[in-house]
Amino acid sequence: MKTDALVEQLKWRYAVKKFDPSRKIPAEQWQALESALVLSPSSFGLQPWRFIVVSDSAVRKQLRAVSWNQAQVVEASHLVVFAIKKDLNAADVERFVRRIAQVRGVSAESLSSYEQMMLDFVAQAGKGLDINAWSAQQLYIAMGVFMTAAAVLGIDTCPMEGIEPDSYDKILGLGSQGFHTLAAAAAGYRAADDKSARLAKVRYETSEVITHVGRS
Ligand SMILES: Cc1cc2nc3c(=O)[nH]c(=O)nc-3n(C[C@H](O)[C@H](O)[C@H](O)COP(=O)(O)O)c2cc1C
Repeated sequence: MKTDALVEQLKWRYAVKKFDPSRKIPAEQWQALESALVLSPSSFGLQPWRFIVVSDSAVRKQLRAVSWNQAQVVEASHLVVFAIKKDLNAADVERFVRRIAQVRGVSAESLSSYEQMMLDFVAQAGKGLDINAWSAQQLYIAMGVFMTAAAVLGIDTCPMEGIEPDSYDKILGLGSQGFHTLAAAAAGYRAADDKSARLAKVRYETSEVITHVGRS
């Protein structure tokens, strides 16, 4: 991708309020966006999350009612719900270590010092560490990766925190599986008459946001 094209796409994207309900993201591109979610980085690599892609229109209607009535929930081509794994603990670390061993073809024993580091970390939960807040930080990275990847492909998104997380958990049966909703993202294509598309992007001056120490 050309450098200019990247910035162009980042300027092109905005939080879409009105999607064109008749346009669907082609399957191949959607698969790429699912890959972007799966490939998102997380601290230690622990991936304390679940991404729920809601295609069922009746369920999406239910979700809209607990999303400040935001139309994006039902009108966008796709809807992803971002949930953390609640109370990440030693069992999650052990599962992840088994996965590394499997993928990289190494013994679990060879990973013991890394495992111990992660176990020590999760053991801090409740003792100065809010493990769910930590997982939330990881989840938002995935949301950023998802939106950026979509923009690069010319696919619109709208991130949404204007939702009732507990109601989402109930509707999607997440609470009983140990997950908790934090946000959602609609993805698809902007409607031609979405007024938000015409609004200028409001960002602070680069010089206020980015400072440099030394010369690169
Ligand atoms: C975490 C997060 C939650 C947001 N929640 C909502 C939302 O519920 N509804 C909405 O229309 N926009 C939502 N937005 C969009 C922001 O208002 C928008 O990104 C911001 O005003 C910057 O504008 P731009 O994304 O169009 O450049 C959210 C954005 C983020 C990052």
